[in-house]
Amino acid sequence: MAFPVAIIGATGYTGGELLRLLVHHPTARVVFVGSRSNHGQPISDFQPHVAGLIDLPLEPVDPDVIASRCRLAFLAVPRGAAMDLAGELVARDVKVIDLGTDFRFKDQAVYKQWYGLDHTRPDVLEEAVYGLTELFRQQVAQARVVGNPGCYPTATSLAIAPLAAAGKLKLDDVAVTAMSGVSGAGRDPKAMYHLPHATENVQPYGVASHRHTPEIEMVLSSFGKGSATVSFTPHLVPMSRGILSTCILTPSETVSAEEVQELYDSFYEGEPFVRVLPQDGPLPHTKAVLGSNRCDVAVRVDPRSGKVIALAAIDNLVKGAAGQAIQNMNVMMGWDETAGLRLPAVYP
Ligand SMILES: NC(=O)c1ccc[n+]([C@@H]2O[C@H](COP(=O)([O-])OP(=O)(O)OC[C@H]3O[C@@H](n4cnc5c(N)ncnc54)[C@H](OP(=O)(O)O)[C@@H]3O)[C@@H](O)[C@H]2O)c1
Repeated sequence: MAFPVAIIGATGYTGGELLRLLVHHPTARVVFVGSRSNHGQPISDFQPHVAGLIDLPLEPVDPDVIASRCRLAFLAVPRGAAMDLAGELVARDVKVIDLGTDFRFKDQAVYKQWYGLDHTRPDVLEEAVYGLTELFRQQVAQARVVGNPGCYPTATSLAIAPLAAAGKLKLDDVAVTAMSGVSGAGRDPKAMYHLPHATENVQPYGVASHRHTPEIEMVLSSFGKGSATVSFTPHLVPMSRGILSTCILTPSETVSAEEVQELYDSFYEGEPFVRVLPQDGPLPHTKAVLGSNRCDVAVRVDPRSGKVIALAAIDNLVKGAAGQAIQNMNVMMGWDETAGLRLPAVYP
């Protein structure tokens, strides 16, 4: 029997990616697409890639209507827009996966400091689980509300986690340089994303202040042994999708390339969506994961500086958003974790 789901914010980029991926899902069916406007218009007017596959009309975001037809809702809306809606939905027995930031931080003071928002539903936040699936799978399996991770924190945390989990990372000395395609910013245009400015251009932004910094620190700190401090420098690069995160790490003791490779291989052994590349193989690059839910990870040791260099590539809209949200739904529902996500990347 089909499992009915809703997408709120279906006209946006991650909403469009949820639609694309859910076409392939063996059990979940999109039966409701919510929007603040354009009610009655077919979703394919905004998401042409699903025309003929999902031809639902946009509907107002009414929790009673959603609860009468759906058992789970993906909230693909900006920060601040998911708090009250999630509360209304869980009260009506609808599970929630929020792709935004509203349910990522247990510590409301951190959320207020970095996002300037007071949480309006601390009761729902209390039970929410941070959905970086590979790292918090057991908690996700029990959750009614999942705060799906950010795209940079997904790639960066997966690149660093094995060293941190082994207790071999100096948590207060983590430097990350990352690059993202323009879709990471959503569908609303701004000057820095405008083609004549963005093309043939690499733009650093949010230097020493990007909002994904505390999220990465939160994940790394969850491995115990102290709180993490991360220096995070993102860059916008002229491509539609993709994130490459390069992490310069100080190990707490001298490690060899063989040792870290073994650590990474065993940490991700059996993971369907994380591929650890070998020492003598290619390095992660965004085209190898484009359109797929895969995260490619590689690790190297620089014998001159003693640093460990960990790299990860993802598609920001898939493993960094919609794909991971579906992966979390699969875990929450006890389904095959890879259901609907066994798609190769689009290459070249
Ligand atoms: N883009 C990425 O790579 C990425 C990755 C990870 C996480 N995220 C997060 O996922 C969420 C969605 O991102 P996106 O890139 O899909 O954004 P987007 O392209 O801007 O789409 C968001 C959608 O939400 C709706 N919306 C906008 N403002 C709203 C408001 N104030 N209240 C309720 N609905 C509103 C709009 O739909 P209607 O106008 O039809 O209502 C819009 O199409 C964001 O929280 C973002 O931070 C994005």
